Amino acid sequence: MQTIAEGRMGIMPPHAQLGAETIKDVANYVRSLSGLPNDSVRAAKGKEAFTSAGCVGCHGADGKGMQALGAPNLTDKVWLYGSSEATIVETITLGRQNKMPAWKAFLGDAKGHLLTAYVTA
Ligand code: HEC
Repeated sequence: MQTIAEGRMGIMPPHAQLGAETIKDVANYVRSLSGLPNDSVRAAKGKEAFTSAGCVGCHGADGKGMQALGAPNLTDKVWLYGSSEATIVETITLGRQNKMPAWKAFLGDAKGHLLTAYVTA
């Protein structure tokens, strides 16, 4: 109900400052979290960078995400943008911004409740 009424913002900040090599390392680590093929030497380096670059602050030490921040679980098979190394490199380098608009003014409470019931049924 709160998501429909107030909307949501999901902001993944850009991390271009890490440099192309470290970003590739982290991308390989991210792929390893969900069992996708990866370069294990890069993934080991990327694991350290995942902590030192602050990814853990939003995605958690285990990469399982933080719902309150809209930071997705990186260990499952669900991808907002795609799981290829190139896409993950792009996500880390440029960041991502997602927006679920607020519908309260348009729908009102009654329709908001009906839609919540429909979505959770
Ligand atoms: C300030 C919090 C924050 C930090 C720090 C952060 N992320 Fe994110 N990340 C997010 C959010 C929020 C999203 C979802 C964005 C959206 O909904 O469009 C996201 C999305 C992603 C995705 C896309 C997942 C998918 O399903 O396609 C990847 C990959 C990712 N982050 C990796 C990282 C890595 C690696 C780092 C560290 C270099 C990092 N993130 C740092 C908040 C963060």
